[in-house]
Amino acid sequence: MVFVIGGSGSNGIDAKLAKILGAKHMVPEIHEFPDGEYKIRMPHRLGGEPVIIVQSTYYPQDRRIFELLLISDLARDMGAERIGAVIPYLAFARQNKSFVDGESVSIKTVMSLLNAVGISYLVTVQPHKMEPLGYFKGEVDVVEPIVDIISHVRREVSKPFVMAPDKASMPIAKAAAESLGCGHDYLDKERDLVTGKVRIKKAPDVDLDGMDVIIVDDMISTGGTIITCADFAYSKGAKNVVAAAAHLLMSGDAEKRLKAAKVNMVFGANTIPCKAAKTVDISNAVAERIKEEYELA
Ligand code: R5P
Repeated sequence: MVFVIGGSGSNGIDAKLAKILGAKHMVPEIHEFPDGEYKIRMPHRLGGEPVIIVQSTYYPQDRRIFELLLISDLARDMGAERIGAVIPYLAFARQNKSFVDGESVSIKTVMSLLNAVGISYLVTVQPHKMEPLGYFKGEVDVVEPIVDIISHVRREVSKPFVMAPDKASMPIAKAAAESLGCGHDYLDKERDLVTGKVRIKKAPDVDLDGMDVIIVDDMISTGGTIITCADFAYSKGAKNVVAAAAHLLMSGDAEKRLKAAKVNMVFGANTIPCKAAKTVDISNAVAERIKEEYELA
């Protein structure tokens, strides 16, 4: 029997996963101290069962990561047999190298910490890049939700065309376009490392007259990337622009800015709570990976 433990960032995936797996489910109690520190307590004993901790690491990222570390370390102390972590949104994955001399490779630190508290299996959703997962010592499974997300987009578009904001997002764009049976292309964007502003380096020669353009990416944070692409799509004659991304961080006034740029709908996955979008549930896909890894019927 597997034990599914849900952290504060599990966004309901913990309960769904426990149901699908027929696993025991618990949510640790969190006690906050006046100075901002906190402690956690497991409401039930663990024994020698394998444990799966669900914790998406969206804002406040470091708090969610530390909570995950405390849960895992405690589970290990309580005798958990094997500890897996489901981290639907993996924070710090974009800081996968020193972009400027002297910068931290933050995702490497996160991965080392996961290993340090006994996590030996990791499931995540559409990571920014695959390579940094190599910093994790243990089995890693990845869920790619774009085709499921597109099944919702399909109902809303009649003349689709898929655009990726950069070459790195082309595999997602290709999968989306294949699922819709339409064309796809990408913009060559670059981001100013100081101001964070996005600009088009090289635009493709496409005619988007009367098209429903679906901009796909791994995540939407400030919305700047999607807005740059939307402006381009409308300048090429698009009649409608929507956005699809696994992780909807929607930082600051992203929702308002996307609306103002006529990004008419946003689609994503439930890796992060987001009221402004239509989201698909990733629990079944995660459960499939876990069943295989833990050899559950
Ligand atoms: C960057 O390369 C990522 O794939 C996303 O395009 C980026 O993080 C989105 O951020 P924002 O919404 O702030 O432009």
